[in-house]
Amino acid sequence: MSETPARPHDDWEGFGFDTRQVHAGEQEERNFGARITPIYLSAAYRFDSFAEAEARFTGAEPGQLYSRNLNPTHLVAEERIASLEGGVGAIVVGSGQAAISALLLGLAGTGEHLVATASIYSGTRILFDRTFRRFGVAVDYVRDARDTAEWESLIRPETKAVFIETIPNPKNDLVDVAAVAAITRRHGIPLIVDNTVATPYVIRPLEHGADVVVHSSTKFLSGHGAALSGAIVDGGSFDWEGSPRAFPGLTDPIAPGKPSYVEAYGRHALEAYLRFGIVNDLGPALSPVNSFLLQQGIETLSLRMAKHLENAAAIAQWLSEHPSVESVDFAGLPTNEYFPIAQQSFAGHAGSVFAFTVKGGRAGAERFFNGLRVFSRMTNIGDVRSMALHPATTTHVSFSAEERARLGIGDGLIRLSVGIETLADLIADLDAALGA
Ligand SMILES: Cc1ncc(COP(=O)(O)O)c(C=O)c1O
Repeated sequence: MSETPARPHDDWEGFGFDTRQVHAGEQEERNFGARITPIYLSAAYRFDSFAEAEARFTGAEPGQLYSRNLNPTHLVAEERIASLEGGVGAIVVGSGQAAISALLLGLAGTGEHLVATASIYSGTRILFDRTFRRFGVAVDYVRDARDTAEWESLIRPETKAVFIETIPNPKNDLVDVAAVAAITRRHGIPLIVDNTVATPYVIRPLEHGADVVVHSSTKFLSGHGAALSGAIVDGGSFDWEGSPRAFPGLTDPIAPGKPSYVEAYGRHALEAYLRFGIVNDLGPALSPVNSFLLQQGIETLSLRMAKHLENAAAIAQWLSEHPSVESVDFAGLPTNEYFPIAQQSFAGHAGSVFAFTVKGGRAGAERFFNGLRVFSRMTNIGDVRSMALHPATTTHVSFSAEERARLGIGDGLIRLSVGIETLADLIADLDAALGA
């Protein structure tokens, strides 16, 4: 008599990071035995019966009904990202900006307020200062995230979230998540962390006291620069009901006579609120093709990140010794003011997106930029390919000269996103361009 073969695991908790990036969230495909998650290009799903249709709509029975809030391809990416970040659940959407917008508009409304670090991604600042302001959501900025008094001076009774990035670009001014979490916890405010540039390979903000993590998974998680996507990871530990600040979207009845998201979903309340409430209402849905590319990318995250980090550290060191370079903004260099944070909270890493200032101001930057042949002149980050950009005339061109100066975005500043190519080729390219 033959033995019954063992079934594959269906719960990957407790396995290593490298195992979970390959397996977490995967579902056995029982029709044909397809080993790779199929791309479920289906806008909607058939109900078996009248009763099932009603149960899906009322939420009495979990399961998919329409791809705006739940798609089987997405589920795999969602569970995998949640596993790597250490969250209780996640939801993927069409872009990083969609993730940030949906999450923050789900927590703050007209007349309410957010506090963020000033050096966050320029697109997020523009989103806050232009569109959120039009919606009546005000945002104030902390200049030095290490300054507790500055945080305290900006937090108001109507502050509904604090938003930071682990590794801001282009200045690589790392943020100590635990220090900010100590402040937000005192006030009962959720701490939202954009972990796009660091990725959970370098730091898992939920372990440092953050409540929610967001990603532009367009970047390192996908890794190959092909498809936009965004993710929101629910840490599952924020006390929405116990906070002195009101979060009616989570604590009011979902519909008259129904429980609230907190009552119905417990630790998964935020994920459910976003999935069935905010994201379903606003509709920033991700294509299943893009979430397929996202989960394929995640499978090699640790391998790619190790190479990104190694190349970036070597290039930053090399640039810091180059006679045509004025300065390098990279927290992995012992002379950098954020070096202690990198050592303490980022396992000694500083990511692979950073800046340096070439001698000769704007003209020097232009000559360098036009001389690049391996680095691509482009605006993305977190791709396997190396890329360069001149922030003062691109990402930060709409900022006032005064604000650019406060952010340290000078005329000679160049941002690099270091890829996984052969280090010697990258250095030769930079050397030739600097020689120009
Ligand atoms: C840190 C960070 N957050 C969010 C975004 C926005 O993401 P997306 O371009 O996927 O909308 C970006 C894009 O560059 C980013 O760098």
